[in-house]
Amino acid sequence: MTEPLLRLEELVVEFADPHRRVRAVDGVSLEIGAGDILGLVGESGSGKTTLAKTVLRLYRPHSGRILLQGRDITHLGEAALRPLRRHAQMVFQDPLSSFNPRHTIGRALAIPMRLHGVARPVPDVLADVGLPAGFADRYPHQLSGGQLQRAAIGRALSLSPALIVADEAVSKLDVSVRAQILNLLRRVHAERGVSLLFITHDLHVARFLCHRIGVMRAGRLLEIGPTAQVFASPAHEYTRTLLGTIVT
Ligand SMILES: Nc1ncnc2c1ncn2[C@@H]1O[C@H](COP(=O)(O)OP(=O)(O)OP(=O)(O)O)[C@@H](O)[C@H]1O
Ligand SMILES: [Mg+2]
Repeated sequence: MTEPLLRLEELVVEFADPHRRVRAVDGVSLEIGAGDILGLVGESGSGKTTLAKTVLRLYRPHSGRILLQGRDITHLGEAALRPLRRHAQMVFQDPLSSFNPRHTIGRALAIPMRLHGVARPVPDVLADVGLPAGFADRYPHQLSGGQLQRAAIGRALSLSPALIVADEAVSKLDVSVRAQILNLLRRVHAERGVSLLFITHDLHVARFLCHRIGVMRAGRLLEIGPTAQVFASPAHEYTRTLLGTIVT
């Protein structure tokens, strides 16, 4: 039996503040196979970002297990995680805040590659995501939102990850730019077979890109299945409500 790329088993993530404890992820189990695109949808506060950050072990779960390429990373410390980080990369909603404003794009791309011993030239990384070589000398604020998101995707791809986690990566972009970035992600997936965990509010976007869709509510995974099945015959009332908000 081959291991899935990622397996979550009964994952629970809690936040504690002095007044209360929030169970942001509440017993989620799922798998992502090599080359899969899994969409995660659900209303604000349903735990999508928390789940994503826990998958990348930016958070430590309260209980449950995270297996990446068959390896249990649930409790690994920072030193043990460091060499594994290149295998799972994240692309965020706001590309400007994910770049150091004082570093050129070239430097921003070069630093993680150097850290992980990758020798790919920066102009090649830029070309991979449709950006001209000259952008290496520009600063983040000199790029548009779409160009910057391309650079962020290039930065993730430069490390040849097995998984890219994209958290609302197209949500802030204009419709036409959004389509370009979605097509870029599609192309990258087709060419490299990288798996995607794609988080979005937008069911249209999820339908366009994702093989399977998981629906989250209040920290729980209500249902998960092939995209066509979730759209055609949603198992849960809540999913029907979500689907009711889009015009097909
Ligand atoms: N760092 C944190 N500290 C305390 N509580 C948090 C933290 N991050 C998230 N939460 C809480 O956990 C729950 C899930 O939040 P999360 O950001 O994962 O939801 P989300 O589905 O990504 O929402 P959105 O669609 O708005 O991005 C919410 O109740 C939120 O307030
Ligand atoms: Mg979020």
